[in-house]
Amino acid sequence: MNYRHQYHAGNFADVMKHAVLVQLLRGMQAKEKGFLYLDTHAGRGGYDLEAAASGLTQPRAPEWPDGIGRLWTRRDLPAEMADYLEQVRTFDAYARTAADTTTTNPSDDEQRLGPRFYPGSPRLAQGLLRPQDRAMLFEAQPDEAAALAQEFIGAKRVSVQALDGYTGVKAALPPPERRALVLIDPPFEAQEEWSRIIGAITAGLARMPAATFAVWYPLTTRAKLTDFYRQLMAIKTLPPCYTVELTIAGEEAGFKMRGSAVLVLNPPWGSEGPMRALTRYLAPVLAQAEGATGGLHWLVPDL
Ligand SMILES: C[S@@+](CC[C@H](N)C(=O)[O-])C[C@H]1O[C@@H](n2cnc3c(N)ncnc32)[C@H](O)[C@@H]1O
Repeated sequence: MNYRHQYHAGNFADVMKHAVLVQLLRGMQAKEKGFLYLDTHAGRGGYDLEAAASGLTQPRAPEWPDGIGRLWTRRDLPAEMADYLEQVRTFDAYARTAADTTTTNPSDDEQRLGPRFYPGSPRLAQGLLRPQDRAMLFEAQPDEAAALAQEFIGAKRVSVQALDGYTGVKAALPPPERRALVLIDPPFEAQEEWSRIIGAITAGLARMPAATFAVWYPLTTRAKLTDFYRQLMAIKTLPPCYTVELTIAGEEAGFKMRGSAVLVLNPPWGSEGPMRALTRYLAPVLAQAEGATGGLHWLVPDL
């Protein structure tokens, strides 16, 4: 496992995924009853974007300027994006205080076009948990898991598991709350990632047919995606589901990853409108070449 999310934190894919996640959490909270938030691939929880600019051996071009950096000073945010940005700003302020980062030159901060600290999915979720909600975070890479445990030391209603997240789906569902939102956000380093996702969804639905699943995946080759959707549609118990998609360039631009998507199974009632609104807004703002698009597509309509 070579993947380190730190280098990608706050990039265009994170922005879309995390804005979607915030809306899913809001949708779950439309009901008073508590739920379990299960993060199968949690990462380290929060990221220092300054550290992300230095690779293990040499400096790397940070990815956040073309993600969160493009939103940071905008004044035309729709409600869904303002909601997400507010969570990012709150985490940034909290983490600065915790790290006591008084920069040597205050104008460095004034010139920054983004946060210094960026919340990963666990921190975003934790920031929105109500007293009746709870989070379980799985992270298999030992260093990342240790950092995650450190990030949440003493946190109430949050448990960190240094274990395989796919196994976590089987172990944790159904939870006593009988309501769950499962985020599956793997690194896609291995070819079998796609089939492991299908396996986890199948096993998860067998244990808890009404659970909400959100799966992040890259929009790369058409063949790969066609195969994924074929395997997905072959799940006999597949519930209503849609994909939220955002591309930053058309196919002809030749990007290795021209966008990303979040597949949502059993979406919370009323979530379709907010998802459409945020992708409509993000497509032109995050575009890197001609042909950027955003949208929502039902795979199994909610009749
Ligand atoms: C894309 S990152 C997660 C980012 C995080 N969800 C967020 O939005 O902030 C994927 C993470 O999964 C971890 N990982 C890889 N395989 C795993 C597995 N089988 N189970 C749990 N974690 C895994 C990697 O170490 C990495 O930290």
